[in-house]
Amino acid sequence: MRIVSIVGARPQFIKLAALSAKLAVSHEEIIVHTGQHYDYSMSERIFSDLGIRNPDYHLGVGSGSHATQTGEMMKALEEVMLTRKPQLVVIFGDTNTTLAGALAASKINIPIVHVEAGLRSYNRNMPEEINRIIADHVSDYLFAPTQNAAGILKNEGLEDKTHLTGDIMVDTLSNNLQVALEISQITKELEVEGRDFNLLTLHRNYNVDNPEILVNILDQLDRLGELIIFPVHPRTKKIIENTEMSWENISLTEPLGYIDFIAAEHYSKRIITDSGGIQKEAFILGRPCITLRTETEWIETVEAGWNLLVDPSVSDICDRIRSFEVPDVKENIFGEDVSSKMAVIINSI
Ligand code: UD1
Ligand code: UDP
Repeated sequence: MRIVSIVGARPQFIKLAALSAKLAVSHEEIIVHTGQHYDYSMSERIFSDLGIRNPDYHLGVGSGSHATQTGEMMKALEEVMLTRKPQLVVIFGDTNTTLAGALAASKINIPIVHVEAGLRSYNRNMPEEINRIIADHVSDYLFAPTQNAAGILKNEGLEDKTHLTGDIMVDTLSNNLQVALEISQITKELEVEGRDFNLLTLHRNYNVDNPEILVNILDQLDRLGELIIFPVHPRTKKIIENTEMSWENISLTEPLGYIDFIAAEHYSKRIITDSGGIQKEAFILGRPCITLRTETEWIETVEAGWNLLVDPSVSDICDRIRSFEVPDVKENIFGEDVSSKMAVIINSI
């Protein structure tokens, strides 16, 4: 089969890595990069860390308003699909790249696999929530990462298209963790070797776009009085640069490569984040996770006691972080050898 895999943002490269390795065995895979993320640290670095080959098409769309970005991607994606005539399109996650791929392929009747289907935050202030709902409802094969996601798809009448595969990020993490712990020098580079540190990431629109909200979060985290390593997402950097603020305990760095980042997660005392993927990695790696959001798509990690939701507008973020303790045990929520399961389904299409 000729398969077009559509990616554009950092977490999609990470999801693609494990699946692409399997698809390449039996299919002609065409990798299309929309260009949604384009900084070296957000794109090329992740490709090279994960050994993903260069995309066959780089659409160079870049940043823009939702409609502009999505519309430009759709036009360019349609052209690739009309030229290359794939039998299947694979889309990942819930970004504008996902939405553009879903709309462009479904309108010209190309069957779609949606990897990471069935997630809902029930918060429509997140652009991702709209993207997910549409992607799920126009796709033909819904690869649900968890039992909960499969249940959500069933409730939305999508049971017949659903395959409970587990979460693809499990495979990328397990394929790379050992190497990361052997080769990454990140704790040395950050001068945190053998020291306790928290690892922080923030990029959700509602946490970072308003400087007052972002500064309040960082001011509060600074008062934790513990070292916090903060690889800053470009969206967040844009805002911080304009504040002229600095924090005593928070050490800002560029976004890390994937290998360095998973090593940093492994060695961290706890992880504080609003990222979707990082909540999962924290759970898999057994690091306590504080999610600075009022809700999460990864509710199982909260129910298991490993992820604490903290509303970033409260004034006692530090107390909540300090008093959070995780249980001794954790179940396997996200599955294993996920890419093989996905490949079996795709091979049978
Ligand atoms: C996007 C996804 C989000 C995902 C995140 C992963 C959407 C709507 N959002 O959010 O679901 O969790 O990626 O990281 O698709 N920028 C740069 N350089 C880059 C990329 C972005 O400077 O390489 C800056 C630009 O100013 C841009 C802003 O970051 O306007 C936001 O980028 P965008 O891709 O629109 O959204 P993200 O916040 O990255
Ligand atoms: N990540 C990375 N470097 C960083 C921060 C994150 O490689 O500096 C990886 C992380 O290991 C995870 C993914 O990026 O696999 C999460 O992506 P992100 O937080 O950008 O998006 P989300 O998962 O929220 O959509």
